[in-house]
Amino acid sequence: MAKKTLDDINVSGKRVLVRVDYNVPLGEAGEVADDTRIRASLPTLRYLLEHNAKVILMSHLGRPKGVTESLRLGAVAERLAELLGRPVQKLDDCVGPEVSAAVQKMNPGEVILLENLRFHPEEEKNDPDFSRALASLGEIYVNDAFGAAHRAHASTAGVATFLPAVAGRLLQKEIEILGNALDNPARPFLAILGGAKVSDKIGVIRNLLNKVDTLLIGGGMAYTFLKAKGLEIGKSLLDADHLQLAAELMAEAEKRGIKLILPVDVVVADRFAADAAKQIVPVTRIPAEQMGLDIGPQSRQVAEKEIAAAKTIIWNGPMGVFEWEAFAAGTGAVAKAMAENTAAVTIVGGGDSASAVEKLGLAEAMTHVSTGGGASLEFLEGKELPGVAALSDR
Ligand code: 3PG
Repeated sequence: MAKKTLDDINVSGKRVLVRVDYNVPLGEAGEVADDTRIRASLPTLRYLLEHNAKVILMSHLGRPKGVTESLRLGAVAERLAELLGRPVQKLDDCVGPEVSAAVQKMNPGEVILLENLRFHPEEEKNDPDFSRALASLGEIYVNDAFGAAHRAHASTAGVATFLPAVAGRLLQKEIEILGNALDNPARPFLAILGGAKVSDKIGVIRNLLNKVDTLLIGGGMAYTFLKAKGLEIGKSLLDADHLQLAAELMAEAEKRGIKLILPVDVVVADRFAADAAKQIVPVTRIPAEQMGLDIGPQSRQVAEKEIAAAKTIIWNGPMGVFEWEAFAAGTGAVAKAMAENTAAVTIVGGGDSASAVEKLGLAEAMTHVSTGGGASLEFLEGKELPGVAALSDR
């Protein structure tokens, strides 16, 4: 890694300001509904505590406009304390005299969690005064918030200009695994892309066309590609603005000798509902009044075969409406086939595909499940992430 990491600094006795991504889903009673991101931060926190640091954590939660009671970090602090097995003091703000006083009183081995950074609009504006106020709380800055590294905010970018700034273990791991897969993949290198919108994945497809051997496209976005090939897609999702582009991307893949695979059959339904009547049809016979909501059994077999033969696999975006049992088979088949290919490097991008893998209990079987949705997409697009760029160079 070109940036400094925890291995390059001495944290003993120091106030270490750590940006984590505790933007986690909350349940109806305000409890943490999925603690994956909290658990993912533990290696960094344990390292700092074992090395006698005073740990000051900061995160955003949701997209509040000003102070919002339901988006306070109290439940997050409770869950973190359980996982760490030591108290976590949650403060009521992230800057100001009371926060400074609490931080000055800390002993090595203690943990403070600041209040939701986005209660201050200056956070998202990357306001220099706000960055300076955050920086004044620590002596070293550690960024471990891979999930927020694509945001140029005060706590992810601005603060790094005022302190020695290094990558935490999670950020380092994400960048190294994703970066190695892109730059130095074991081949064949297969990318599987799904999800609803073509527009979300254009940058990723463009960048991956320089890298992969095979690109498999499923999910809602596949129908725009099928239509661009001249097929009738009935009432399936169509991104009409990107039809021309889909055709260009397919031509580009062909020119470069990259195998671009689209579904050969799909599961169609008469309406967008969990209990809609469904049937399996070849893509050449999608009925005019029906919509495709998952890839079909033959397409699953094609995907399974490609996955079994690949040595590096990156997957981002579900193959169908996996939240509904009736249309979850395609996404499940991809996840299972990846889990079974233990000889390959298997990487699942954050967001929907990561939740699908978690739901199926297959996360442990993958080489890596990213904690960043937007961040992993931007990384796959080949963009430099502001939260990484801001860290001190080696
Ligand atoms: C995420 O969940 O993708 C990150 O925490 C970033 O959140 P944001 O999209 O609200 O900036």
